[in-house]
Amino acid sequence: MGAMNIVQQIKQPIQNEMELFEKKFRNSMTTKVALLNRITYYIVNRKGKQMRPMFVFLVAKMVAGEVNERTYRGASVIELIHTATLVHDDVVDDSNKRRGFFSLNALWKNKIAVLVGDYLLAKGLLLSIDNGDFDLLRIISVAVREMSEGELLQIEKARRLDITEEVYYEIIRQKTATLIAACCSLGAAAVDPDNAELIEKMRKFGELIGMAFQIKDDLFDYTDGPIGKPTGIDIKEQKMTLPLIYTLNTCEPKEKKWLINSVKNHNEDKRRVKEVIAFVKQKGGLEYATTKMVEYQQEALNILQEFPESTYREALFTMVNYVIERKK
Ligand code: IPE
Ligand code: IPE
Ligand code: MG
Ligand code: MG
Repeated sequence: MGAMNIVQQIKQPIQNEMELFEKKFRNSMTTKVALLNRITYYIVNRKGKQMRPMFVFLVAKMVAGEVNERTYRGASVIELIHTATLVHDDVVDDSNKRRGFFSLNALWKNKIAVLVGDYLLAKGLLLSIDNGDFDLLRIISVAVREMSEGELLQIEKARRLDITEEVYYEIIRQKTATLIAACCSLGAAAVDPDNAELIEKMRKFGELIGMAFQIKDDLFDYTDGPIGKPTGIDIKEQKMTLPLIYTLNTCEPKEKKWLINSVKNHNEDKRRVKEVIAFVKQKGGLEYATTKMVEYQQEALNILQEFPESTYREALFTMVNYVIERKK
């Protein structure tokens, strides 16, 4: 056990499931269109952390001790949709790096990235439909709708630069937490479809982790990486995240004017963005966001405590801690 890193530790009780999942996931993308095949090949060879399928399998095993074909399909659908939203998100955020390599829009341009994102989304939805997993499809479709709403709400607020902490939580709940909530409710629903109370409890658990997960991601943007994608781009994109919101709400009126002016009119100026980042750090914005992140994490852990002790619950504990301690 000693030499195992934290991700290996989390994966240990679902090793076989994750290996089979990877094969199925790879197959779920195949197509006869050569260009598309080249691109999906590029995608599957630059895989991410795969935290969402890990949540699906660990929850299934914690609540039922086993997984089934529906679990595998659900995990694939979610990872397909997650990949689709990242491909689109990099177009929206004009970002040229993903998972340590060039993003699709950087390599093949926006046109192709938009179409590939749509293709992955359709492939995901069809995987559920073709197998009659309509209960899972509902869980997933709600998440897809909310993610689009969340990204649009974020753009709306970026235009007006008047975001409150409450609205920030609503944005991250929609754009990120709902998909992780879907992983955990789906993990339960695939193996215990009639247990509404359990499914709702796992949804809530996933939502809380999802909130912590996005606050962590937003904190990364204030660091120098290397995290496999650009940092410092949220301010450039006029994205107001928790460290900045907190600083705006606690600094002097004159400082606030300077901050707003920086984000509004000098967001492309690298030196000015660095000054903003330094100011947010000096005002304790990162500590504040960290505190909030830990609050969500603790609430999630409280839900886990309600389940009987098992290796799967233990792995989920480790996973919840990994969400806030991870380095990428
Ligand atoms: C990135 O998610 C998008 C966010 C919700 C912040 P991940 O950090 O899970 O991305 P990969 O799949 O590991 O690349
Ligand atoms: C999360 O927001 C994006 C999605 C919900 C797809 P970000 O824009 O912060 O995600 P990264 O940082 O690009 O991964
Ligand atoms: Mg982005
Ligand atoms: Mg980000």
